[in-house]
Amino acid sequence: MLLELPDILTPDEVRSARALLTGDAPWIDGRTSAGGQAVTQKKNRQLSQESDASRQLQALVLAAVRRDPVFFSAALPRRFYNPLFNRYDVEAPHYGPHVDGAVLHSAATKEWVRTDISCTVFLAEPGEYDGGELLVQDTYGTQRVKLPAGHAVLYPGTSVHEVTPVTRGSRLASFFWIESMVRGDERRRLLFDLDMNLLRLRERHGETPEAVALTGVYHNLLRQWADT
Ligand code: NI
Repeated sequence: MLLELPDILTPDEVRSARALLTGDAPWIDGRTSAGGQAVTQKKNRQLSQESDASRQLQALVLAAVRRDPVFFSAALPRRFYNPLFNRYDVEAPHYGPHVDGAVLHSAATKEWVRTDISCTVFLAEPGEYDGGELLVQDTYGTQRVKLPAGHAVLYPGTSVHEVTPVTRGSRLASFFWIESMVRGDERRRLLFDLDMNLLRLRERHGETPEAVALTGVYHNLLRQWADT
């Protein structure tokens, strides 16, 4: 499931994040964090994790996604890989087709994270740069994603994906992975659809016996499928 999440960050948070990513922010070669196959495809810049800016930004992004109920329902997060930050511009413009490693070691939390879900939070407006689209191959073909600053996209960690070359301006984004309580994308999708439709049923008809019973079905499925 590919899911766009509008306004994950408030405009103030986008401004704070942008301030930390400009000026003398410590950008390094993105290849330092890419594994085997990915390293040959990657030409971008990444914010050094050994910086105060990175630590502040990580806290900002994690707080934002943790307060969002739709994010929670879609991702059912168990562990987070600490958010990273990247920049694409004409000098370091793209990240060709690749798959992310299945398990990655997070420097911030010192634990291994299975990359069930990938998340990108856009930090530049689409009009600020040309190119720089996120292309995700999924069951229904290739999806092209380029969202306003503060919006996020979730997609399965199993997907081949790429960032197309930036030919003008700078594309700033945060990206990270989530290990979900529910490993399989198909099961997460069923749970998400059930949860979102229950929400709408309740808005329309209130707390009916049917809504209560279906909520029980949701939780009993989650109980069967979740690893905590
Ligand atoms: Ni990737």
